[in-house]
Amino acid sequence: MKVLITGGAGNIGSRLAASLIRRGDKVVVLDVNSEPLYPTPEFSKADVCAGGVDDRDLVMATVAETRPDSIFHLAAILSGGAEQDPERTWRVNLEGTRNVLEAAVAAGVNRVVFTSTIATYGAGVPEPVNEHTPQWPSGLYGATKVAGERLGVYYHLRHGLDFRGVRLGAMVAPDAPVGGAASAFVCELYARAVQCGAYRLDVYPTTQLPVVWVDDVVHALVGLHDADGSMLRHRVYNIAAGTPSVQAMADAVVRRIPDVKIEFVPDPVRAPIVDSWPSAMDVSASHDDWGWHPAFDLEQMTDQVLREVRERDAETGR
Ligand SMILES: NC(=O)c1ccc[n+]([C@@H]2O[C@H](COP(=O)([O-])OP(=O)(O)OC[C@H]3O[C@@H](n4cnc5c(N)ncnc54)[C@H](O)[C@@H]3O)[C@@H](O)[C@H]2O)c1
Repeated sequence: MKVLITGGAGNIGSRLAASLIRRGDKVVVLDVNSEPLYPTPEFSKADVCAGGVDDRDLVMATVAETRPDSIFHLAAILSGGAEQDPERTWRVNLEGTRNVLEAAVAAGVNRVVFTSTIATYGAGVPEPVNEHTPQWPSGLYGATKVAGERLGVYYHLRHGLDFRGVRLGAMVAPDAPVGGAASAFVCELYARAVQCGAYRLDVYPTTQLPVVWVDDVVHALVGLHDADGSMLRHRVYNIAAGTPSVQAMADAVVRRIPDVKIEFVPDPVRAPIVDSWPSAMDVSASHDDWGWHPAFDLEQMTDQVLREVRERDAETGR
């Protein structure tokens, strides 16, 4: 299978590219960064096209020339970056998504898989949120991602495009996303604890947040892509693996690195953004319809992320 990954050099994309190449797929990456955040020997086999999804001509030409069977559309500006640069977020998240969908239809691409977010749900909804919960986000990032979901469904209804998506909780990984997530602390916490022995969390200790380990996200993307379409009751599915408080995440680190110094200094912009997201996600539909369930709970992902940070620091001599 030939696959195009937009945003394929980012946190999720670089691991997704490696995973697809490992199983024998041919991968083309379209990203404004050509260096992967998570470099692997597999990623070096990907064709990397440096450019933006907001460049309509480039997207149309890349998809027409590449003629992929499927597109994973991951390129985006994330929650923190969106509030800092609304103009760019509009171009990348809204126009970029429309460009990708247009190009997919024009080139006869079978399937587009989209990455949406828990930030599409606003505050005050019944929890845990499920695939029927109303989506009225308070931030620009969430608003652009709801629009992306709806646009994908429109292209499905209007053009028969097989559009599918995952709505992710905050992702735990050794690196913070390139795109400036307000939830970047769920990655930075671990790297800073190992490297500096200290970290200042810019959110409230009481904030509760659905989290998920990065490789479980990759499995979800591949699993939903490969799923039998007749089993899918929804176009977009919730993905998370537990819902710890930020204090519980910090405590899990302290249990493993007892002398680490973690303090809470909530940021007046970022803390309310993260606090406005739902604290619990119902992921039973992903399990029931296409068999996804996370391999990592909070304890396992804490062990894994600390291990990966240490291994990478040893390799790079940090
Ligand atoms: N990380 C999370 O916690 C999380 C949670 C929910 C949803 N998501 C979604 O998953 C996707 C991937 O997130 P990630 O964590 O890998 O973030 P990331 O910021 O690491 O990756 C995004 C990639 O998109 C690229 N990009 C930015 N603008 C672009 C443009 N105009 N054209 C092409 N590429 C561009 C960036 O260079 C980066 O490599 C995003 O759509 C994000 O909204 C992430």
